[in-house]
Amino acid sequence: MRIGVLASGTGTILSALLEADLPVAVVIVDRHCQAEKVAEAFGVGCEAVVREDFSASFDRVGYTDKVVDALQRHGVELVVMAGYGTVLDAAVHRAYPDRVLNTHPALLPAFKGWHAVREALEMGVKVTGCTVHLATEAVDEGRILAQEAVRVLPEDTEESLHERIKDVERRLYPETVRAVLERLDNGEEIL
Ligand code: GRF
Repeated sequence: MRIGVLASGTGTILSALLEADLPVAVVIVDRHCQAEKVAEAFGVGCEAVVREDFSASFDRVGYTDKVVDALQRHGVELVVMAGYGTVLDAAVHRAYPDRVLNTHPALLPAFKGWHAVREALEMGVKVTGCTVHLATEAVDEGRILAQEAVRVLPEDTEESLHERIKDVERRLYPETVRAVLERLDNGEEIL
């Protein structure tokens, strides 16, 4: 099973996936970022499908086609999003039905979207966490594969809380991806 990881940021989740020795065939980034260096350090190929346009007229369909093309060129069978900053069009789910995974820094269905950690803090929740789920066309929807809680501390900032959540993601995501691979290798469905 060949994995394609999509990343945009510091790549610490990517790094955890690679440290876990998961069969990552390629890393795809939507901007030049630290994740490219992580891929390089692990000797994994990385392709930048750079998104030039962050305006409302962004050609999401055209952009997604380029990402799907890159995934297919590398023979990817399972797509693993690890902090990817672009919402892809439905075409990725048509190419990879029920084969796109995501990790989200909140206990879904609470706090969907880009500011999950900040919004959890603002709401004053005492417990938040992370969720590994099947990604669908609708952002942060899709069947939940794994979740783990993280306590919010009185002195937490968005950064400190996110870092503790990521500590959990760096363990839970590789574990969950490995379990998914085992199911697929046994000819079972992910869910
Ligand atoms: C993670 O919290 C992930 O859930 C979110 O983006 C973060 C990525 O972290 N979607 P990093 O860039 O791999 O450190």
